[in-house]
Amino acid sequence: MNTIDLRKVGNHSVGFLSFFEGINHIPFDIKRVYYIYGVPKGIVRGHHAHKNLLQFLWCPYGSIIIALDNGVKKEKILLDNPSEGILVENGLWHTMQWGIDNSVLCVVASDYYDESDYIRNYDDFLRLVKEGYWNEPEKH
Ligand code: TYD
Repeated sequence: MNTIDLRKVGNHSVGFLSFFEGINHIPFDIKRVYYIYGVPKGIVRGHHAHKNLLQFLWCPYGSIIIALDNGVKKEKILLDNPSEGILVENGLWHTMQWGIDNSVLCVVASDYYDESDYIRNYDDFLRLVKEGYWNEPEKH
């Protein structure tokens, strides 16, 4: 499980502040930020893996279940704590299921948007896992 606890500064009277820095707190430099919002409860998004991209996800408001699948093992992680996030590395098929209306998913990524880095077909993903695509970095 790739959860990362973030610093949490403050108290219940004045509220809290959390933060992280590229390299210092997450294992990559940040090139892109995006966020997903206005999503009704129950919706499942994602359904893809990345060839190279590394991402860090956190939920500043609400509750979102992240399902991760490396082609062999599956796990689910509940994101409902603004001072905790998860690292979604390359080679992981992932989905995000909204547990509460309007939960917000924030993401920082190691690279710019590139559709050719996506694998959007699950059978293609399983084939690449079997071929050892992510065990041999020289292939990509
Ligand atoms: P996608 O990553 O497929 O989102 P989700 O899995 O949550 O549905 O992105 C949806 C669309 O948004 C994609 O087709 C292109 C666009 N997009 C960008 O242009 N830049 C980005 O940084 C991201 C993440 C998506």
